[in-house]
Amino acid sequence: MEATRTATEITAAKGSRRLVMVTATDEPSARLADRAGVDIILVGDSLAMAALGRANTLTITLDEMIHHTRAAAAGARRALLVADMPFGSYQTSVADAVRSACRLVAEGSAQGVKLEGPRSLEIAAITAAGIPVMGHIGLTPQSLHRLGGYKVQGRVLEHALALVEQARAIEQAGAFVLVLEAVPPAVGAAITRAVTIPTVGIGAGPSCDGQVLVFSDLMGLSELPLPRFVRRYADLADTVRAALERFASDVREGRYPADVECYPDPSGLAEELAAHLEND
Ligand code: KIV
Repeated sequence: MEATRTATEITAAKGSRRLVMVTATDEPSARLADRAGVDIILVGDSLAMAALGRANTLTITLDEMIHHTRAAAAGARRALLVADMPFGSYQTSVADAVRSACRLVAEGSAQGVKLEGPRSLEIAAITAAGIPVMGHIGLTPQSLHRLGGYKVQGRVLEHALALVEQARAIEQAGAFVLVLEAVPPAVGAAITRAVTIPTVGIGAGPSCDGQVLVFSDLMGLSELPLPRFVRRYADLADTVRAALERFASDVREGRYPADVECYPDPSGLAEELAAHLEND
C-alpha cells in the first residue's frame, strides 16, 4: 500500500511526478478518490454550488465547511485532506484566519487549509500555527464581485507579472502548494517555473505540477454548463437518472421487491396471522 501523503511530501514531489487533486464533499466521494490513489482531497467551497445548490461560493459558512470536511475525513485514509477556508473566515483579520484554520483542523479533521489571494500575513500566521496552507491565485471565486464574473485572469503582461509576484509572495509566506485557476497556459507555465512549491492547475494549462477537478464535474453529475477546462470522465447524471427510473418503474409495476429481496416468513406465521385476524 502507498504511503500516506503529507504536505512535506507533496512539496517535495515538484519536478519528480505530477500531482493529482480532486474535490470531495462527503465520505463516499472522499473514499472513492482516496482509493483511486489521488494525492490531495480538497473539500472545496465549490461544494456550495456542487452539493448545496447555491449560486456561488460566497454564502457557505465555516460551520458548513467543517461539517463537510469531517464527512470527507471519514473517507480519506491516504490522501492529504485539505479544507477550503470559506469567504468571511479569514478576510477580517490575521487572528480570525488562524482561528478559522484551527477549527477546520480541530473540528473537521483537515490536514491543511486553502485560502484565496495573495494573503502573505494570514498564510504565514496559519503556517506558524502548524497548519499547512495551500495558496490559490488567478480566478479566485470568492472575489467574484470584484472580478466582475468568472473570467480568465492574467491575460495581459502587467496582470500576468502581478500573478507571478503573488505566487512568489505566497511561497515566501510558507505555503506548501499553490492552486492556479483560469489563467492562460503561458502564465501557468511561468508561475510554475518561478516558484519552488508545486502548482496545481484548474484551467491553467498543462505545465502546472499537478491538476485538480471538481468531483461532480469530473463525474458528469452536474447538469449545468461547465467551464472549458472540465473533462468529464463519466456520465453519472445519466447513469443515476436511469437507475432511479428503473427503480420507480419496478415499484409501480410490482417487480420490486422480489422474493429474494424479502426476509423469509417463519413457517406457519402467515396462516396463524390470517386465523387470528379472522377471529377479531
Ligand atoms: O472550491 C474548489 O473546488 C476549488 C478548486 C476549484 C481548486 O477551490
